[in-house]
Amino acid sequence: MTAVETPAAADSGAAASANFRSAARTSVDIPAERVSTVVTAVLRGVHEAIRAHDVTYPEFQAAKQWLMDVGEGGEWPLFLDVFVEHVVEEVAARTQDGTKGTILGPYYLPDQQRLGSVATLPMRPDEQGDPLVFSGRVVDLTGAPLEAELDIWHADARGYYSGFAPGVPDGNLRAVVMTDSDGRFEITTVQPAPYRIPTDGPTGRLVDAAGWHPWRPAHLHLIVRAPGHRPITTQLYFAGGQYVDSDVAEAVKPELVLTPAGQVAEYDFVLEPV
Ligand code: DHB
Ligand code: FE
Repeated sequence: MTAVETPAAADSGAAASANFRSAARTSVDIPAERVSTVVTAVLRGVHEAIRAHDVTYPEFQAAKQWLMDVGEGGEWPLFLDVFVEHVVEEVAARTQDGTKGTILGPYYLPDQQRLGSVATLPMRPDEQGDPLVFSGRVVDLTGAPLEAELDIWHADARGYYSGFAPGVPDGNLRAVVMTDSDGRFEITTVQPAPYRIPTDGPTGRLVDAAGWHPWRPAHLHLIVRAPGHRPITTQLYFAGGQYVDSDVAEAVKPELVLTPAGQVAEYDFVLEPV
């Protein structure tokens, strides 16, 4: 790999920040009372940590410098999706039936190529990695088939996402796959590699300074949608894979671990009505 092709934190951080800013979001008007309640609780947590651990002035200044660096490096989406999003998802999941959700992460891109129910994800002619055939059905809570779409994206065999790492073509390993009238789909792709948080930016420096590891297990990202049903944002992992038991983003749930037979992995998605 040449220096130009090596994805750096600055590339993926800035791209993730730009992607977050450009995503269409419903704006929320948060009442003052709610802002006060939540922000007070967050600040109290910080104050308590300082008291409990006798945090010193030099440590406070190091934290200030680090926070500034995360902002300047555009790494807030990376940092928050790895270290905070899983708890927001846990709260959202309290009211969700059907297939378990998990974090969205910073690398979703909308409006990808739409493909039929038996599909091969867009990939380079010389795409590296073991073939993976991922198939299954989308059904409702009663088991009836749904005509659904699977918005799927994943890292390549080096752990890089198209649209965020230089050298990977736009749309690579991303598509929206439609199920057939029986809710079935069959997606041919390649096995993704574990994903490593960029180690050369402030988030990586923190992980290093704390003696943690910077890895997420290999995963497929999916948003599954069907008319009249609550969409699920989820990820699927691979049984026995590295870091499945120690995901830095704490986003693995036992129900989301695939057990592939050779190159074939199956999973059925269950959606609840809105
Ligand atoms: C991050 C990357 C991912 O691929 C993911 O699924 C979740 C978080 C991140 O770098 O923040
Ligand atoms: Fe990911």
